[in-house]
Amino acid sequence: MALKPQPGIMDVSPYVGGKSKVEGVDRICRLASNENPLGASDAAKEAYQSIADDLHRYPDGGSYLLRSGIADAENLDADRIVCGAGSDELLGLLIQSYVGIGDEVVYNEHGFLMYPIGTKIAGGVPVKSAEKDLRIDIDAMLAAVTEKTRIVFLANPNNPTGSYVTEHELRRLRSELRGDILLVIDAAYCEYVDNADYISGASLVEENDNVVMTRTFSKIHGLAALRIGWAYCSTEVADVLNRVRGPFNVSLAAQAAGVAAIQDKAHIERSKELNSRLLNWFRQQVAELKLTTHDSVGNFVLVNFGGAERAASALEFLKNKGVLVRGMAAYGLAEHIRVSIGTEEEMRVVIDSLTAFTNE
Ligand SMILES: Cc1ncc(COP(=O)(O)O)c(C=O)c1O
Repeated sequence: MALKPQPGIMDVSPYVGGKSKVEGVDRICRLASNENPLGASDAAKEAYQSIADDLHRYPDGGSYLLRSGIADAENLDADRIVCGAGSDELLGLLIQSYVGIGDEVVYNEHGFLMYPIGTKIAGGVPVKSAEKDLRIDIDAMLAAVTEKTRIVFLANPNNPTGSYVTEHELRRLRSELRGDILLVIDAAYCEYVDNADYISGASLVEENDNVVMTRTFSKIHGLAALRIGWAYCSTEVADVLNRVRGPFNVSLAAQAAGVAAIQDKAHIERSKELNSRLLNWFRQQVAELKLTTHDSVGNFVLVNFGGAERAASALEFLKNKGVLVRGMAAYGLAEHIRVSIGTEEEMRVVIDSLTAFTNE
């Protein structure tokens, strides 16, 4: 008899991350994964190195110091925080915990691919809700809900579109959803947003037992390699996650560097300032090339080439110049590419390469 994985698993198209190398090209601009171009803070690097003599020890399974560090920095309750190996792990654990075979998970049309992937792994059915002009449409999300819906996922801001849902709309979504549906707000990019009508979702978590906010150290904190994410949720959901997660799911190095990173407010501010300056500059330069970009409150932006073939040629052209950005076909946005905001020098290289491409 042949081995057979659980239903749904073979329907998964494995997640393909951003490229990091090009054969024969030395200087590479890595702008495909929304990483922090300044890297991690010096304090985080020092903390990472400081644990070298303890590598034979298991880490604290409850990530106590990391949870306390996050709670202090963000003014939250440490008992409602669960840390994970990247927010990816926590998104998957939430699905595993609340979604069974045949249950439905609603997510927005251009939402993060890990939502449908995690749902299929659990044997659930991913249900896409249409967006309007690359913005999440709360009415469409509510209309996609059925009696089988267990979770509604929403990234705010959304990757890859860069748009966001206002506090008012987010609250309306929660109040119009059934109480037995978990609302997961993936706030991976929230630190970049300054808009007055935006909230990360922490207050909604404190007001409702059925809301989870997920966060990451992979973006503004520049620690993608260490895989650190956290969920903010009710103590009941935290109890569930603590039962299903691995007992030592966050490494010692990750915990040490994470505490230092979240305390380094100057590095966070520097990273944010660089991003907003270069995002504006880049969009203006792209407009001069007669290409359109979409409003983005994240550390990335979609550039529209007006057609899938043109976008694919641009992707290839940029790759040959050592500029690695992300093709968007997997997100149903094949006429776009997504460019992460890098250093000033990197963004100039992208503009020079796009100029050469449009002049070809
Ligand atoms: C919206 C969104 N959520 C979650 C993640 C995963 O982040 P992590 O590195 O914490 O797993 C990403 C990474 O690109 C993302 O864009």
